[in-house]
Amino acid sequence: MSETSLAPDDLILPLFFSATKDEPHPVATMPGVSQLPVSHAARVGREVTELGLGGVILFGLPATKDSHGSGACDPEGPVPRAIAAMKEASPDLLVITDVCVDEYTDHGHCGILRKTSHGVEVDNDATLDVLAESALCHARAGADIVAPSDMMDGRVAAIRDALDDEGYEGTAILSYSVKYASSFYGPFRDAADCAPKCGDRAGYQMDPANGREALREARLDEEEGADMLMVKPGLPYLDVVARVRQATTLPLGVYNVSGEYAMLKAAAAAGMLDERRAVLEALTSFRRAGADFILTYHALDAARWLGA
Ligand code: PBG
Repeated sequence: MSETSLAPDDLILPLFFSATKDEPHPVATMPGVSQLPVSHAARVGREVTELGLGGVILFGLPATKDSHGSGACDPEGPVPRAIAAMKEASPDLLVITDVCVDEYTDHGHCGILRKTSHGVEVDNDATLDVLAESALCHARAGADIVAPSDMMDGRVAAIRDALDDEGYEGTAILSYSVKYASSFYGPFRDAADCAPKCGDRAGYQMDPANGREALREARLDEEEGADMLMVKPGLPYLDVVARVRQATTLPLGVYNVSGEYAMLKAAAAAGMLDERRAVLEALTSFRRAGADFILTYHALDAARWLGA
């Protein structure tokens, strides 16, 4: 009589590929998560396939960074190389890429900065070109889905145009449509080495106090041509997941982010709760709220617990 199901193929595993590491490098704030050398991509891809996960989403740590995040468009960067290696080893593995410049900019912001009379700000429109070029670079390497996470206005349309112009009509766009300016991204910024060096992301990410704005953001991305939407973070925003579910017929994802992962891992390590039960309960809550798929660092463990 269960109303809600949870299966390994509902889960997407985020992975961090480094251009400089020769060995997996554990992320201190995310027990069980490591930055991986590209040489491990094929093996991890096979493991994900064997466990029956829905797919992977890739993040890159480049060898060098600059003010324009040009590494995000480098065909020899860690993400394009990891895509190629995974697709060669496991052609049916669904590969999503995170499209954003924050891992590639020396200032750590999700956009190109410009000086104005009143200080420095993110140049929304100048950033669109880099995002479109980065999405194309991932599509050329074989990504099935590109997922812009930057929150610049107009980026879904810009990426769709660029992909279509080059013949990648079949590459889908998963938009991080509803992304709040959240403290729960803290551990990720260690994992991806992308904490902003000045200011914060509140100029482009959403105010946690706003629920209706989520519906506006979702509608805009849908109109621009997004194939799938996402809400992020997850656990503190289950009401938003449920509202966006009501407002769209598109597939809807949720990102169970790094801070949510770290909380459960820390509590479990301290003997404060049963990790397996807590994780499966949290993942089930996303499905109950209306998410079709879940990006989660618990994906490998959860798939094993679900008896894959
Ligand atoms: C931006 C991006 C972030 C996350 C995914 N994509 C960080 C941010 O916006 O600061 C966070 C994911 C997590 O916390 O697990 N490229």
